[in-house]
Amino acid sequence: MIILGIESSCDDTSAAVVRDETLLSNALAGQKVHELWGGVVPELASRAHQLNITPTVHTALVDAGITPQEVDAIAFTRGPGLMGSLLVGVSFAKGFAAALGKPIVEVNHLHGHIFAQFLRLPDKPYDPPQFPFLCLLVSGGHTQIVLVRSTQDLEIIGSTIDDAAGEAFDKCAKVMGLPYPGGPHIDRLAVAGDPLRFKFARPEVGRLDFSFSGLKTSFLYTVRDEVAKNPHFIAENQADLAASLQHTIVAILLTRLERAVADTGVTEISIGGGVSANGGLRSALVALGEKRGWKVHLPERFLTTDNAAMIAVAGLFKAQRGEYCSMEIAPQTRF
Ligand code: KG4
Ligand code: ZN
Repeated sequence: MIILGIESSCDDTSAAVVRDETLLSNALAGQKVHELWGGVVPELASRAHQLNITPTVHTALVDAGITPQEVDAIAFTRGPGLMGSLLVGVSFAKGFAAALGKPIVEVNHLHGHIFAQFLRLPDKPYDPPQFPFLCLLVSGGHTQIVLVRSTQDLEIIGSTIDDAAGEAFDKCAKVMGLPYPGGPHIDRLAVAGDPLRFKFARPEVGRLDFSFSGLKTSFLYTVRDEVAKNPHFIAENQADLAASLQHTIVAILLTRLERAVADTGVTEISIGGGVSANGGLRSALVALGEKRGWKVHLPERFLTTDNAAMIAVAGLFKAQRGEYCSMEIAPQTRF
């Protein structure tokens, strides 16, 4: 089965083609414009999607060596995400499908992140998580622990009550004057820093739930107080600030994951979402997995942030069950 996937939930326009689980192409158009504003500006995002969607889909088909007629179904992100951004992808998918006489499949963006590791990649061993598994889903908009029993039986057993892990990275990076999105910058700076130099809050809000707003505030206050004493504090302590922040976020994430394993008995572990690209999180999870005897599955880095390949494979699972949707379907910003 050949699936064309389309992703436009936030600020990346992406289109991808899979033949069964095999990834044939994954085209991506990022949006630099938001860097200027220190965060995603929804109206600018939807305009950029409109410019990018047709050439991105074209590139995905050409790279895959597939003609539009060879596509069996078109899978698209229905949500969650920004309404204007989602509308572009959903409308394109419907229009393209109508023109070709092909069925459409709606995909939950978060399921895309969870099933990204089920893609078969050229020259890579195929080792997707075995059911049931726990997925620590950490993106810019969501932080969840999901118990995945099958491709259609997913249960969210923990989630954030305020900011997402990615937001915590991005907001603290902003306090340090780093560009948006700050997560990758913190990751890079943390390598040379002392993770135990600064202590930040680790709010407890429930056994498997997360809260990051207190951490963000404690980071902000620490920086503000130190800058009052020394205006060069941030520049002189960038690496230690980044390493200590990353260490705290990783500790918050992994303590909940350990509890989830204790509660469910499931030791097959995967991670997904933009923050799962983080070097500190990946190495800490691997080390913890070795210590506890878990089987840890790390996604390839290009599959961690938003991409259409993951939407195509999540859509494939639905298409294989005949779960197509009607042309009446509308985007959904929240789930
Ligand atoms: O999954 P994603 O691309 O978009 C959403 O669905 O939200 O995640 C984007 C988030 C941003 O907050 C970004 O800062 C974070 O992922 N991120 C990282 C890293 N790469 C991306 N955070 C920490 N370390 C990274 N290497
Ligand atoms: Zn995402």
